[in-house]
Amino acid sequence: TMKGAIFDLDGVIVDTAKYHYLAWRSLARRLGFEFTEADNERLKGVSRMESLRILLEVGGAIATEEEREEMAADKNREYVEYISKLEPSEILPGARDYLLQLRGRGVKIALGSASKNAGFILSRLGIAELFDAVIDGTKVSKAKPDPEVFLAASAALGLPPSECVVFEDAEAGVQAGKAAGCRVVGIGDPNILAAADLVVSGLHELAAKK
Ligand code: G6P
Ligand code: MG
Repeated sequence: TMKGAIFDLDGVIVDTAKYHYLAWRSLARRLGFEFTEADNERLKGVSRMESLRILLEVGGAIATEEEREEMAADKNREYVEYISKLEPSEILPGARDYLLQLRGRGVKIALGSASKNAGFILSRLGIAELFDAVIDGTKVSKAKPDPEVFLAASAALGLPPSECVVFEDAEAGVQAGKAAGCRVVGIGDPNILAAADLVVSGLHELAAKK
């Protein structure tokens, strides 16, 4: 049985991918190339600097380390403008209900996200207090598919990974959860998330109907 639940943020609890996309696209346009939504798929679950590396590769652009730092900071400033307007109504369907139901069953809850903006997003959505632990991009250095973030999250809950279930929408995130020794519920396309133990279209499928 599940004693701990570890949730990815982007694409599982809130759809911030669209804001990441808008901010990356404006950077690409300033650099003189287009960045499509299909290209953006490659950035899901990927850290900020690795995302930038992929974007520059797509545009065939070359930048020094210093220029990269500046580009990433510019992108993040624009992204933070978008997420500053996030409201509790933007929580994905069923996510809040499911968190509340798990808490009611005594399941411990952690966040396991690559984002350095995770804490801010949880507070904008008004759900920060539903988490017993928050492991985000400020606390880990190895990006998914490395299991670091989920190992840290289960440790923070005081549980072995085998008693934790990871909820993930990204292929790299599913791999990270399995590598950590957790069971993994994929959120999204069963073809892309084939390595998960179970795939659902969203947390609304798991939240018991009221
Ligand atoms: C999540 C998202 C990625 C994003 C990463 C870093 O994993 O899925 O698209 O690049 O977080 O986010 P940050 O807010 O730190 O730039
Ligand atoms: Mg995600």
